[in-house]
Amino acid sequence: MSESPDTTFLRADGMVKDYPGARALDGVDFALRTGEVHALVGENGAGKSTLMRLLGGIAKPTAGRMSLDGAPYAPISRHAAERLGIRFVMQELNLVSTLSVAENIFLDALPSRFGFVRRAALNVAAREAMATVGLTDIDPRTPVGTLGVGEQQMVEIARGLAGKCRVLILDEPTASLTDREAELLFENIARLRRDGIAVVYISHRMEEILRLADRVTILRDGQVVSTHAASELTIDEIVRRMVGRDIGDADTVSTAQSGAPLLRVENLCLGARVRDVSFSAQPGEILGFAGLMGSGRTETMRAIFGADRPDSGRVYLGGSELSARIRGPRDAVRLGMALLTEDRKGQGLLLPRSIRENVTLADLGSVSGRGGWIRRGVEASAARRWVDRLAVRCAGTDQAAGELSGGNQQKVVLARWLHRDCRVVIFDEPTRGIDVGAKFELYKLMRELAAAGKALVVVSSDLKELLGLCDRIAVMSAGRVAGVFARGEWTEDKIMTVALSGHLGETAAG
Ligand SMILES: Nc1ncnc2c1ncn2[C@@H]1O[C@H](COP(=O)(O)OP(=O)(O)OP(=O)(O)O)[C@@H](O)[C@H]1O
Ligand SMILES: [Mg+2]
Repeated sequence: MSESPDTTFLRADGMVKDYPGARALDGVDFALRTGEVHALVGENGAGKSTLMRLLGGIAKPTAGRMSLDGAPYAPISRHAAERLGIRFVMQELNLVSTLSVAENIFLDALPSRFGFVRRAALNVAAREAMATVGLTDIDPRTPVGTLGVGEQQMVEIARGLAGKCRVLILDEPTASLTDREAELLFENIARLRRDGIAVVYISHRMEEILRLADRVTILRDGQVVSTHAASELTIDEIVRRMVGRDIGDADTVSTAQSGAPLLRVENLCLGARVRDVSFSAQPGEILGFAGLMGSGRTETMRAIFGADRPDSGRVYLGGSELSARIRGPRDAVRLGMALLTEDRKGQGLLLPRSIRENVTLADLGSVSGRGGWIRRGVEASAARRWVDRLAVRCAGTDQAAGELSGGNQQKVVLARWLHRDCRVVIFDEPTRGIDVGAKFELYKLMRELAAAGKALVVVSSDLKELLGLCDRIAVMSAGRVAGVFARGEWTEDKIMTVALSGHLGETAAG
């Protein structure tokens, strides 16, 4: 790709943003050219979202200057930025769940453009906006709260594109999209780029970065490491620059023990999504679950955990049958199981409460003294341990969870579950939104948990992650376990074939 001419129209110079106890940005320069896709990468807490909050008028800089078309640019609100065509689809969704899709898309224009009598016009305009992002099978009158997370994300993007748009900022847009939705988004990005719209693209998925971006800016600890033409970069090079060191491969020495399984699931059924699922996991084993979105993996895990009541089937833990005793997640936890669900927001991170409280919340038993008082010292040191272990970037364990970056909030949720010390731990998409360095730490930690004799079940849409981490991989298709592969007998192709077709062909299953 040849070097594009410098058509910079938006620049930020020397941006500083201080929060109490933390400098989130420390003299960042950033420039945006017409029609470029500019990726912004960096570890959790590096300052990516903060920089975009300044551009998007959502936060005020402590110091630094921005300019748009050569004139000073200092938006006083998100609305002011949007009027100038700078639109920010945030990491945390910002829709009003009780309002319809159409109302959300045109929230700001509602009273002036549509009034009360122009519902029909509103819905027609919304349909058009939704069509641009491929949301053709949803009625614009549907309340947003009833949509899936991926669909809500697409509504946000439709909203971003519906008005005047010169810059579209996408902060981890694909974290909750299906592959198909992500492809649609990529097509949209290509179209915007052709129309001369600049896109800022934040993601922890390096393949996406190299596929989409014209230029890449790497942030570390609130400073710019460097800006490159994407064509000059490799994934390893980006990672090295953003982490500041080489990260190795996770240690995949198996610790699976022979003998009786620790977790055994027999003939589990729940509606159309979970159809006669049977599998087992040995102590010390990491068992992966691969499959397409909607293949029933999440539903299976929820049924095992008692979050949804299965129609039939049995769950055994260490030889004793639990199914009858699991009436809900509370029972499952008491009996020694943990489930980290893919829906992090629904896990009830208490945003105004401290990291310390959030980590130990579910396990007050282990930190309370005889009278039931919480022993603060114990709580604090437990939290401290997890914060160090998972490299949660924070001012201290007393900091409110709501002040952490998106990825660091997820680490706190992870810490809460790991702190429970359960014998069987089920992870549903554990590394979503987590940076590459922290992922590596998490893999090491999972290996250690296995080595301590626990059984781990890991659902992931990232097949490479499963291939690197697991002892065996079960592949689900249309609600069934269509094949189970052991390390050594799997290939990416075999697994994909089974996930797509639902059967093994001539390959052997373990
Ligand atoms: N309201 C706030 N109060 C205090 N500190 C904050 C606040 N918002 C952000 N920070 C801090 O600023 C730093 C940068 O956060 P930011 O959200 O920009 O990171 P990020 O690069 O987007 O990370 P992630 O990949 O996890 O989304 C973090 O250390 C975070 O704790
Ligand atoms: Mg962020």
